[in-house]
Amino acid sequence: MKLKVLVVAGDGIGPEVTNEAVRVLRSVAEMGGHDFEIREALIGGVAIKKEGTPLPDSTLKLALESDAVLLGAVGGNEFNSLPPNKRPEAGLLQLRKALGGFANLRPSFAWPALAQNSPLKAEVVTGTDILFVRELLGGLYFGEPRVWDQEAGAAWNTMRYTRDEVIRVARVAFELAQARRKKLTSVDKANVLEVSQLWRATVTELAAQYPDVTLEHQYVDACAMHLMNTPRNFDVVLTENLFGDILSDEAAVITGSLGMLPSATIGGGVNLYEPVHGSAPDIAGKGIANPLGAILTAAMVLRHSAKLEEDAQAVETAVRTVLEQGYRTADLVRGQQGVSTQQMGNQVHQVLSELIDRRQAMHAV
Ligand code: IPM
Ligand code: MN
Repeated sequence: MKLKVLVVAGDGIGPEVTNEAVRVLRSVAEMGGHDFEIREALIGGVAIKKEGTPLPDSTLKLALESDAVLLGAVGGNEFNSLPPNKRPEAGLLQLRKALGGFANLRPSFAWPALAQNSPLKAEVVTGTDILFVRELLGGLYFGEPRVWDQEAGAAWNTMRYTRDEVIRVARVAFELAQARRKKLTSVDKANVLEVSQLWRATVTELAAQYPDVTLEHQYVDACAMHLMNTPRNFDVVLTENLFGDILSDEAAVITGSLGMLPSATIGGGVNLYEPVHGSAPDIAGKGIANPLGAILTAAMVLRHSAKLEEDAQAVETAVRTVLEQGYRTADLVRGQQGVSTQQMGNQVHQVLSELIDRRQAMHAV
């Protein structure tokens, strides 16, 4: 199998965690005899410093020529005073738009070995397996007009969705629910917002085409609470861009750390893969960031772009195994010293190689 991957590691802990994810991709390629062409390019704050823009044309061009783009993280404190359209984050938003993926899949899974690492009670989180489908190209992030009128001392953004934008992302969510536990929770604020009323009406209408999926609607405020009280009740959660941004960070509490969460954005020309966490400037360069979110993101590259499901599962099994063996980065043992980014990566690498070796030996019999 041949796959062109563009790696844009970005800022802060981005390069450290992406490094471990790329090692996983390389070893899967090597062991399976796959031809993964892995290139690198600049995005975010590092691109602003070197090229004066958060998404250089050269990066965009390489991204559009790839099968998959793997991003680390963007952002840094030194850019905090810049307007939104000049910041590192603007580079990521431009890239998302250009690649065209509108369905951002964010799984939130309670790893059994981490049940004691969540601030929630083990009996509340155990068995939780949620897949967020966050709409990624609409809503407040992209809606026009967007204005900061200094003179008037006022600023506004626009939460806008068309019926077609809701339909295309809702289809992805219904189909994923069909392949899972067949429950879909659509999240909105239809008691206050017209845009949410359109969202709810459109999703309800579409549900007729998926009679095997049970659809429920929740207001976003209630959903935020239910996620903490009864996370096991959720299967697939469909929501608009900003609500999905907020709820997926909240859902990290179930997993034990934001550093554990991967994501994949599908539906466009080129799939985009990014861990859910940010650039974490406070711990950048210390070699202590959790690489498992990035490594699980690599598993999503294998699943959704390379179509190597067995290898994707092998990476996930390797992560499960190292957690069961007791390996923890600092974020998972709040306050205590954990293993380094590299030590965690090494251990995943080791277990993964054994798993693939064993599988290949079995196939050979
Ligand atoms: C995320 C991040 C991004 C977002 C930022 C960095 C633009 O928070 O992927 O969740 O808000 O989408
Ligand atoms: Mn976010």
